Amino acid sequence: MRVTVGHLEEFPAGALKRITVDGLPPLVIGNADGTVFCLKDECNHGEANLSEGDLCGFELLCPLHSGSFDVRSGKAIKRPAKRPQVRFDVEIDDDGTVHVRS
Ligand code: FES
Repeated sequence: MRVTVGHLEEFPAGALKRITVDGLPPLVIGNADGTVFCLKDECNHGEANLSEGDLCGFELLCPLHSGSFDVRSGKAIKRPAKRPQVRFDVEIDDDGTVHVRS
């Protein structure tokens, strides 16, 4: 499934945005130094939204316990996060339209 989630202009470098679309869990989409990424928004460690966390390079820190994930792979970097966060591929058209593939 390929879902359009917006335009590149809506995801400036360093920004985090929560997106909800039919058929997928709430998503966090962000731009890490020009790399647009998409992860499941709800942290897999607890009840927190990663879209309310902090982006530091390619590391996304959870706002609740400061566990962190690599936004490129979803891999957990810092405990208490241990399991990889679900991630989705992002595709960007020549005109800047951003899509998420599940
Ligand atoms: Fe995210 Fe605990 S809820 S690290």
